[in-house]
Amino acid sequence: MGEIKTIGVLTSGGDSPGMNAAIRAVVRTSLYHNLNVVGVMRGYEGLIAGELVPMNRKSVSNIIGRGGTILKTTRSAAFRTPEGRMAAFENIQKFKIDALVVIGGEGTFTGANVFSQEYGLPVLGLPGTIDNDLIGTDYTIGYDTAINNVISAVDKIRDTAESHARVFIIEVMGRDSGLIALRSGIGSGAEAILIPESETDIEELFRRLEESRTYKSSRIIMVAEGRHAGGLEVSEKIKERFPKYDVRLSILGHIQRGGSPTCMDRVLASRLGVAAVDALLAGHKGEMVGVVNNAIHFTPFHNAIKHISEINPNLLRIVDILSL
Ligand code: F6P
Repeated sequence: MGEIKTIGVLTSGGDSPGMNAAIRAVVRTSLYHNLNVVGVMRGYEGLIAGELVPMNRKSVSNIIGRGGTILKTTRSAAFRTPEGRMAAFENIQKFKIDALVVIGGEGTFTGANVFSQEYGLPVLGLPGTIDNDLIGTDYTIGYDTAINNVISAVDKIRDTAESHARVFIIEVMGRDSGLIALRSGIGSGAEAILIPESETDIEELFRRLEESRTYKSSRIIMVAEGRHAGGLEVSEKIKERFPKYDVRLSILGHIQRGGSPTCMDRVLASRLGVAAVDALLAGHKGEMVGVVNNAIHFTPFHNAIKHISEINPNLLRIVDILSL
């Protein structure tokens, strides 16, 4: 691959608040270096279909505060096939794209890894997912907004739970990960947090629920959707064991993924977008750009997508001490 004159940028997988701030940073940093920028619509699907648009300073005006992604996003099955990737590369050539920035999560980086190796195209990834489940960055773009969305919803639920003296099971997102449940559970003072990364002793949960009944009106149990037993199953078990409890289930769903990004997410996205373009020009490829201990950090795609299974034990201890 020769000199980089044109950079392509796309968003893929589940959208996350802050993706627009990342797109803006990639576009403006490219222009700062006198490069051309092409936006790819609808992720890898749009790359295959040739939905590419030149971008300029104005294309990214006033988007830093908007949730979602102006480039739209998809989860592409076609890009998993060699034929799909070949069609995508034909469009890379047609639009004279010399390097690509992909913003997304595990699926996005898996595709980027294969594609860049197959065609020798320099590709860098920005971690854009609310799940915070990538290795090589302390936080992913969208995670902070999502956990703030959760605590604002749980604060509201707490008001009504407290008035009725109810037990609320709240199921939050995180396809394979309990990191949304863990932090938002601590932040909202949940009485218990159930996540796939740590075993739940159901008898101990029952015991604590019963004990806390003597001095607490409402109880909130945060459940990560990625657990083998989700919110519905947990609420059924509690109803069965304590028929007198007034139990309600609330599945927060996609409300967690929307809305204006927090300042933390906007700044993270801006830092990572600038770093990605600088790094492409410095010869980086096949890596995710993250922030570790407040410094820019590069992780090969195949390492970034390894599943996080270990949870910070200090956070689990905090839950134990503070939840009752
Ligand atoms: O990966 C982000 C995420 O929001 C997960 O937490 C969730 O399991 C999944 O996407 C939901 O995907 P969809 O928007 O396709 O329903």
